[in-house]
Amino acid sequence: MNIVSILLSLSLSVPVFAIAADTQSTSENTNGSEIEVLHWWTSGGEALAVKELKDMMKEQGHNWKDFAVPGRAGASAINTLRIRTLSGNPPDVAQIKGPEIQEWGAQGFLTNIDDVAEQQSWSELLPRRVSDYLKVDGHYVAVPFNIHRVNWLWANRKVFEEVGAALPQTLDEFFVAAEKIKAAGYIPLALGNEAWQEATLFESIALAIMGTDDFRRAFSEHNSELLTGSKMRETLLTLRRMKQYTDANSPGRSWSDTTSLVIEGKAAMQIMGDWAKGEFLAADKIAGKDFVCLPAPGTANQFSFNIDSFVFFNKDNPQTIASQKELATLILDPEFQREFNQNKGSIPVRVDIDMQNFDDCAQDAMQAFLRAAATDNLVASLSHNMAIGRASQIALFDVISRFYNNDNVDIDETLRHVRAAVLADKL
Ligand code: BGC
Repeated sequence: MNIVSILLSLSLSVPVFAIAADTQSTSENTNGSEIEVLHWWTSGGEALAVKELKDMMKEQGHNWKDFAVPGRAGASAINTLRIRTLSGNPPDVAQIKGPEIQEWGAQGFLTNIDDVAEQQSWSELLPRRVSDYLKVDGHYVAVPFNIHRVNWLWANRKVFEEVGAALPQTLDEFFVAAEKIKAAGYIPLALGNEAWQEATLFESIALAIMGTDDFRRAFSEHNSELLTGSKMRETLLTLRRMKQYTDANSPGRSWSDTTSLVIEGKAAMQIMGDWAKGEFLAADKIAGKDFVCLPAPGTANQFSFNIDSFVFFNKDNPQTIASQKELATLILDPEFQREFNQNKGSIPVRVDIDMQNFDDCAQDAMQAFLRAAATDNLVASLSHNMAIGRASQIALFDVISRFYNNDNVDIDETLRHVRAAVLADKL
């Protein structure tokens, strides 16, 4: 599916006025050249992490014009980007990741940054699994920030202690703990009913139930039997079973407000990628003491990865091009890699960063990443645009969300729709 057809399909559901009202465009007043950056890092932890980059750009005399579009883990930002690009007004820089980088690159919108990559020796700094995503026709067009792990569980230590529940290692243990927590009057599982949050939960359950090989064969190799088979059925039913442990206010709640429930001790757990850790840290909570991070139940050996990256749109103005190159260079600066990833919750994307000053969760994530790489248990995240393209993702989110939110939706029909959704990218 090309960008034009995706835009046409989206424009019906996303009114332009709604996008305009939702964006946060701000510009710092410096004398240097201006560079406009479209991204979706607007929660407390995200904003703190990206502020460092804005400050560094300013120090170098570049004026960062912020075009932040909050919401839906980037889906709103990407819609805005499409509309702006098609109306001939793309930003200078945008947050795009995964297979979508190829789609934008193939349309000829993105600048070649091979010179920056060569100057910084990216081929020696970045794991191969990462750099493959950043190139179009063998040329670098995107710069990576980090590696996020998606299959995490975040727990409030005090709630678990008070209730006398054990931190769950498996799905069975999850349900035992959830029962205890519910009986004690806390929300066992914090979830915001947005389709992408439900899909993030679905992904962790699928990894546990299907195992790495079948997960990959289903979602990356499009194996029909697995997409409609008994393990997929069990995954969907487990997802629906979890609903009884969520609260009545979940519809429409953002992921960061949902994390706040765990931070404040109203809820015991959230299953979410490690950008959630950024919220705990922004609220001055300490890993291991106030909150605990553990692999999503049943997924200790697996690492579902999600890499954030920026791309640079083709521009004529030499000053803009210079600012783009400066920004690309700063993102892989070792000091920035340490600062940014400590605030963001992810691990550095450079292989040579000393992890000594990182907290326990980040150290665990790094160990888990290395272990998963060595045992072939690294998987590209399904719910965060690393495994499938946008068309499949939109369709799959919709199928999962319908099933989760409506007990009358039939499971056999849903399984057929899961298969159709995963194949949608090929249409
Ligand atoms: C991005 C993260 C971001 C999260 C929530 C994910 O898809 O990769 O960087 O923090 O969405 O906004």
